[in-house]
Amino acid sequence: MKNLIRYSTGLAISLWACAGLCAAELTTLTVQTDQPGVPLNHGMWGIFFEDINFGADGGLYAEMVKNRRFEFPDPLMGWTKILNNVAHGRLSIHDENPFNAANPHYLRLESDGGAPLGVANEGFRGMGVKKSETYNFSAQVRNVSGAPVLRIDLYSGDGEIIDTVRIKDFSSDWKKYTAALHPKATDAKARLYVQIEGKGGLDVDVISLFPEHTWKNRPGGLRADMVQALADLHPGFLRFPGGCIVEGSVLTNRYQWKKTIGPVDERPLLINRWNTEFVHRPTPDYYQSFGLGFFEYFQLCEDIGASPLPILNCGMACQFNSGELCPLDELGPFIQDALDLIEFANGPVTSEWGAKRAAMGHPEPFNLKMMGVGNEQWGQQYIDRYTKFAQAIKAKYPGLKLVAAAGPSPDEERFKFAWHKLRELHADIVDEHCYANPSWFFENTRRYDNYDRNGPKVFFGEYAAQSVAVVSVKNRNNLECALAEAACMTGLERNGDVVQMASYAPLFANVDAWQWTPDLIWVNSLGVCLTPNFYVQKLFANNSGDVTVPLKLDAADGAKLYVSATRDNASGETILKVVNGGNAPAEVTLNFAGAKEIAPEATAFILTSSQAQDENTFVEPGKVLPQACQLKISAPQFGHTFQANSLTVLRFKITN
Ligand code: AHR
Repeated sequence: MKNLIRYSTGLAISLWACAGLCAAELTTLTVQTDQPGVPLNHGMWGIFFEDINFGADGGLYAEMVKNRRFEFPDPLMGWTKILNNVAHGRLSIHDENPFNAANPHYLRLESDGGAPLGVANEGFRGMGVKKSETYNFSAQVRNVSGAPVLRIDLYSGDGEIIDTVRIKDFSSDWKKYTAALHPKATDAKARLYVQIEGKGGLDVDVISLFPEHTWKNRPGGLRADMVQALADLHPGFLRFPGGCIVEGSVLTNRYQWKKTIGPVDERPLLINRWNTEFVHRPTPDYYQSFGLGFFEYFQLCEDIGASPLPILNCGMACQFNSGELCPLDELGPFIQDALDLIEFANGPVTSEWGAKRAAMGHPEPFNLKMMGVGNEQWGQQYIDRYTKFAQAIKAKYPGLKLVAAAGPSPDEERFKFAWHKLRELHADIVDEHCYANPSWFFENTRRYDNYDRNGPKVFFGEYAAQSVAVVSVKNRNNLECALAEAACMTGLERNGDVVQMASYAPLFANVDAWQWTPDLIWVNSLGVCLTPNFYVQKLFANNSGDVTVPLKLDAADGAKLYVSATRDNASGETILKVVNGGNAPAEVTLNFAGAKEIAPEATAFILTSSQAQDENTFVEPGKVLPQACQLKISAPQFGHTFQANSLTVLRFKITN
């Protein structure tokens, strides 16, 4: 018994059993290279960033000092007092005459002239410093009395001083002072000591330590290794800043983009909604400094060639939490935020918000073309709010595409209700979310084959295979999950006329401070660990195409083979993506029907490992890595063996 599966891209697929048809149990994949498929969105494969798992503060934003402004509810959270028997003096938090109004609290260091005394900052679960690299210290300081010295030390995790600098001659007015540190050793768990030496008093605030080497070496910028990983994905778009973080657990802690632009030290601190979300993964020290704010997100998009996709609160707090609603007749300011954001991104420098963008150093527009209304909302309450947003935004910016929410899961009542309503409303793009076990992904590779071609487009905006269960702390980023996602992605790609965009979620996780697993990229204070799931994303995004190519798979019952084919106009290559999710190699006859000529060499990228449960770790980061090789080909029909548990991407030069 064999199954013949015809993927006529963009049309309904037909699947039929053909008993007796296939005497030999051979699998044949026929790629109709001379037949036009449907055009693909070149930017289909993108990324979804959310400040979860210490993704921004403690992650992408390279600041190494936690609670640098003493504005956490416990002003000394993250800091340890260094006061010993021989140090006489006082450490106290004050708020009179602060450095600026947005930073009411600061630390006063007072010494009676004995041994140094002060505070030590633990960073975000330790500071990662590299031998001989430069780390830029800065602080706002005001002299209170005497002529004391500020002593700055970097300590290694095991208590050795690895560099020291001293700053002196402070003004009696607030002023920013800087110094450079050059640790003599690499350490993942370093700490920063800030102490007063000599008799007198100093007020200190905004104590900061940044690696000099950031992405594009921007002072106060982003971690270069993390952005490089994103750039390597060649993402078509970047969705930001979330996720549930957009919604907040209540409306007062929703994300408000206007509070995240302008001078960094004036951006008000906000509790991170993941601070308290999971009792089993508490992170009481999780706050948003907004050093990575909306300007920086747009800049990041530009840097890595990704189209920006900001998601805005639509007057609804997270429905898994309070579900608090802004009354419909009070939505005005929320909608105005959306209109102003479009002006901030695209408006002329003479406009109110375009001028603010220019003042931050970017007079050119950011070329915003789409925006999300709400994150993972559901129900009539959402439809009511979406409708108001859409009316106002489309009236002013008819060309801007809006992404609408379809709730948290890909197939239940809330989802069906949303789709029904959004279809009636002629929504542009519907955002589907899917966290499910690997079998869901393998079983849903044909999910979009029968979607309405004339309705809203699909953004498969959050997805990840869960090896155990959704929000289980035992979920792993293993090869099996990555291949399940890849199998599903072949279906997304074959249906690229409907599925316009897709992004894995979440993106980053700090190994010492995460709330949610699995995640695409794990980070520690010194580097990144790229998962098999990352490599799947990379292989798809770096081998997309301009059009789909129809194909037909003639495979034995039970074969776990999943395929898509595209053509890249620039290189003239036909690109095949084949997932073998089975535990045995699959021998396949590849038949390039319609091909007049095929180049004698093709490139193959193979992602596999000896066990489906294999994963990458900081100890063994290269266990599951794609390998490139060349194939020798003599005719448009030939046999190829796809390895067990593998994703193979093949690029053929074909003349039709
Ligand atoms: O990706 C983690 C969370 O999953 C997102 O914040 C939310 O949109 C979804 O529920």
